[in-house]
Amino acid sequence: MNVLVTGGAGYIGGHMVLALRDAGLKPVVFDNLSTGFRWSVPEDVPLVVGDIGDYELVLQTLKSHSIDAIVHFAAKLVVPESMRDPLGYYLNNTVKSRSLLAAAVAAGIKTFVFSSTAAVYGNASEKALTEDAPLAPLSPYGSSKQLTEVMLRDVAAAHDMRFVTIRYFNVAGADPAMRHGQSTANATHLIKVAVQTALGMRPSMDIYGTDYPTPDGTCIRDYIHVTDLIAAHMQALDHLRGGGESLVVNCGYGHGYSVSEVVETVRKVSGRPVEARIAPRREGDPMTIVADSTRIRSKLNWQPRYDDLATIVEHTLRWETMLRERNLKL
Ligand code: UFG
Repeated sequence: MNVLVTGGAGYIGGHMVLALRDAGLKPVVFDNLSTGFRWSVPEDVPLVVGDIGDYELVLQTLKSHSIDAIVHFAAKLVVPESMRDPLGYYLNNTVKSRSLLAAAVAAGIKTFVFSSTAAVYGNASEKALTEDAPLAPLSPYGSSKQLTEVMLRDVAAAHDMRFVTIRYFNVAGADPAMRHGQSTANATHLIKVAVQTALGMRPSMDIYGTDYPTPDGTCIRDYIHVTDLIAAHMQALDHLRGGGESLVVNCGYGHGYSVSEVVETVRKVSGRPVEARIAPRREGDPMTIVADSTRIRSKLNWQPRYDDLATIVEHTLRWETMLRERNLKL
């Protein structure tokens, strides 16, 4: 099976490329290299440098590589950035996804896996979220993904396509074999930031808000290991290839950790101090987001292997140490 991986030169897409290759399938990367890196794409994997909004190039790629399925990761993904640049997010994540879908329909693609996000839920209750929870994104990022979910559902219904939409909770960690990890300049994601602080690559970090009505006052998230997330994508492809129905599934472990607990875990695992300053709340941050993962476990038989915060932190730490040794400021 030939699989187009949009955003395949990035963090999560890059792990997908490795998993497809490991499974003997043929990934083709489509990436504009705005945040991804050419060096992260294995030499034997075709890389098309282009924009998913470039209809002609996408269509030509789908045809020339005889693509059977699309796994669509390419997106802007920073919640606070989306608050400052909503139009950029709607253009990149929604409008260009429309163009990608149009090319997919024109090429007769029947199988589509889409990276969505828990940010579509907005300010949830303390209960774990099922996929049927109301959608009320707090950020343009969440809205831009929600709109694409709706488009994909409608396009699939009209054009003999089946899809799995995967709503990611907070993805972290790195390939346990250290072939890939998060390489983002000026990263904003909590675990990476805390690990970089532990390694002395940042003098200190901020904790955004300690006055939330949670047990320790900081926000709670469901952190999942990137390798488990990618296993869910592989199972989604299997499910669709086997004739399975279209699905929307959460991908999270079903339990959350607070920001302070994450910082403390980084201190413990690294054995180093992490200077964390208390800062005001960050705009667009929901208080608590935790997945109910019943559906993905039952429909895709998803069985996570790295459901342990210390392991996620340890893998991030090993990856960041490697980047630092190579003097890469990513
Ligand atoms: N945080 C800090 N200090 C930091 C960075 C983050 O206190 O330096 C806090 C945030 O305020 C938030 C939590 O840590 O409470 C997690 O923040 P991240 O930026 O790591 O992640 P988000 O929860 O904002 O968003 C992430 C992904 C989205 C995804 C979402 C789903 O970026 O793509 O998780 O929950 F949709």
